[in-house]
Amino acid sequence: MNIESLRGYRMVQKANLLRANNLYPFFRSIGDSEGTVVQVDGQDQIMIGSNNYLGLTHHPHVIESAIKAVEKFGTGCTGSRFLNGNLAIHEELEERLANYIGHEKALVFSTGMQTNLGSLSAVCGPKDCMLFDSENHASLIDASRLALGPTFKYKHNNMESLEQVLAENVNRFKNVWIVTDGVFSMTGELALLPEIVELAEKYGAHVYNDDAHGIGVMGTQGRGTMTHFGIVNRVELNMGTFSKSFASIGGVISGSADMIDYIKHTARSFMFSASMAPSAVATVTACLDVIETDPTLHDRLWANVDMMRRGFKEIGFYTYNSQTPIIPIFIGDEMKALTVTNFLKENGVFATPVLPPAVPQGEALIRTSYMASHSTTELTKVLEVMEKAKKEFDIPATIH
Ligand SMILES: Cc1ncc(COP(=O)(O)O)c(C=O)c1O
Repeated sequence: MNIESLRGYRMVQKANLLRANNLYPFFRSIGDSEGTVVQVDGQDQIMIGSNNYLGLTHHPHVIESAIKAVEKFGTGCTGSRFLNGNLAIHEELEERLANYIGHEKALVFSTGMQTNLGSLSAVCGPKDCMLFDSENHASLIDASRLALGPTFKYKHNNMESLEQVLAENVNRFKNVWIVTDGVFSMTGELALLPEIVELAEKYGAHVYNDDAHGIGVMGTQGRGTMTHFGIVNRVELNMGTFSKSFASIGGVISGSADMIDYIKHTARSFMFSASMAPSAVATVTACLDVIETDPTLHDRLWANVDMMRRGFKEIGFYTYNSQTPIIPIFIGDEMKALTVTNFLKENGVFATPVLPPAVPQGEALIRTSYMASHSTTELTKVLEVMEKAKKEFDIPATIH
């Protein structure tokens, strides 16, 4: 086959160009990891590019629980929950998660992506439609391709635009789902969820919240963006992942008992894919143990986030409207973002750039994010390196 004839070939060309110029920032091979510090090319780097917000991937209780689960249940379930892969620990975890999130029932999937693919395509039939924030995550976009009903976009976090698409479509479809990220993964910005549920109630629509970056982080004990805003019972379906704060892999959808039972019997990515491995289930359960018993965990996370937000402001970076542990740094020019990323790497800091088409042309950024387990010494070093970068590359203080 002629690879060059394929639609995405220009991505390979771009990768080759960046590799040739020693600026390729992706697929970095990590040789060793302590969570906040990783080894790349034999060099220690402070990790500020991960989603390990609570730093629980290396917590002793979490590691011990995962090992014990492997010893007791083996390394995999070798089948779908529907048939032979349904362990009692999957169901126990679901009960704990429902309690934690505040919904009646929860259902765990093997990844967050599968949670979105399966749940949205199950609830959006040919007579239904979805209204999407224009900056929704790729897994939601792919879910919209699987769903039988159409999707209409509204302008990012713009309630006038949402109301307009609601008014245009509410009488044309049986069920209208408003679908949004709770925390936007590139900018760390929160969705305007209270306004969204209000509009949903006004027009008789339903709300689906992707809280991949909110669960574990936002609201009391990290119960999520719905709890942060005090609107748990006004969001019909809430999705979370375990690939970030929950130190593992997997996803969860929660809602009413009827709705979750419906998804359990109709979501194809749930029914026709093997269940979460026992070690992953035990990891998430152990993370809940830590979250529920360590009152300092979230204090440490937010102290680190505040230190970095303040530090970046003093240096003079533009950090968007981030209200979460994700703090993006606006760079602008794509080549400059790559060069700055390389500079950070050479100075012992691991961060990743976000480039067009993931962001608009001329709005390249470096996405940074912080963990409860980062030490003040590590974060002070990051600020020093960032300050040097600001001077050396003349990084702008505003977006325009
Ligand atoms: C907003 C959002 N939704 C869904 C996902 C998919 O989650 P997972 O990594 O568990 O498949 C991600 C992860 O990148 C995400 O950022």
